[in-house]
Amino acid sequence: MTRLEGPALDARLEAVLALVRADTHADIGSDHAKLPIRLLRAGRIGRGVIVELNPGPLAHARQNVARAGLAGKLEVRAGDGFAPLAPGEVNSASVTGMGAFTILGMLRREPARLPPTLVLQPNDSAESLRRWARGAGYHLRADLLIPGYWAYPVLRLDRAPGPDPTYADLPDEAALRYGPGLLRGRDPLLRAQVQADLRRLTPLAAPGRVAQTELEVAEAAWAWLNGP
Ligand SMILES: C[S@@+](CC[C@H](N)C(=O)[O-])C[C@H]1O[C@@H](n2cnc3c(N)ncnc32)[C@H](O)[C@@H]1O
Repeated sequence: MTRLEGPALDARLEAVLALVRADTHADIGSDHAKLPIRLLRAGRIGRGVIVELNPGPLAHARQNVARAGLAGKLEVRAGDGFAPLAPGEVNSASVTGMGAFTILGMLRREPARLPPTLVLQPNDSAESLRRWARGAGYHLRADLLIPGYWAYPVLRLDRAPGPDPTYADLPDEAALRYGPGLLRGRDPLLRAQVQADLRRLTPLAAPGRVAQTELEVAEAAWAWLNGP
């Protein structure tokens, strides 16, 4: 990677980069600021806002943005989640490298400040984010699993009216748990996850137990993955 292109990204952040294109984009919880630096260098965004809660990562972001000579186009702000953004200020935002619960907290705390496009990369199950998106008026436009230390979910959500057509004709609970795009694409990493769930849940399942319901969801996903 040359200085002109910006810092190298790992596979999950490369996947996020490919899903962002916006005039003004916010990266929330940026730490090293590698993603917004690459987004600017690649011409995928015109301007960026970086939000960081903690002093160490905030200084890290400021230092890397200054070193890249991008302080005029990438503004670094201290604060919690979407709170430092004015409503309507950015067209899109990314939140990456955190637990889904942390990301969900940010989304729920500032509904009026959320932009029409969100690219989310939780480090664990994306189920709660898919459920949130459905209630908050966002449609799932990309739904990926990226190999790495774990299989990292990457979601792109766009605000849109009405029910999300991505879920049509799929077993609903299985699609929310495992991802409608991943089920439709018969993603090999998803197959491995569902198989692992079937192995884990089968000995635990019994009528009335949570494991029984979870097993039924995994079985519905498995049936779809192996269907015609
Ligand atoms: C594990 S790092 C991920 C860094 C980068 N986004 C990535 O994917 O490589 C999580 C970052 O989120 C920041 N963070 C956690 N909670 C936050 C919040 N509520 N608002 C803003 N930043 C937050 C942390 O300070 C930390 O720098």
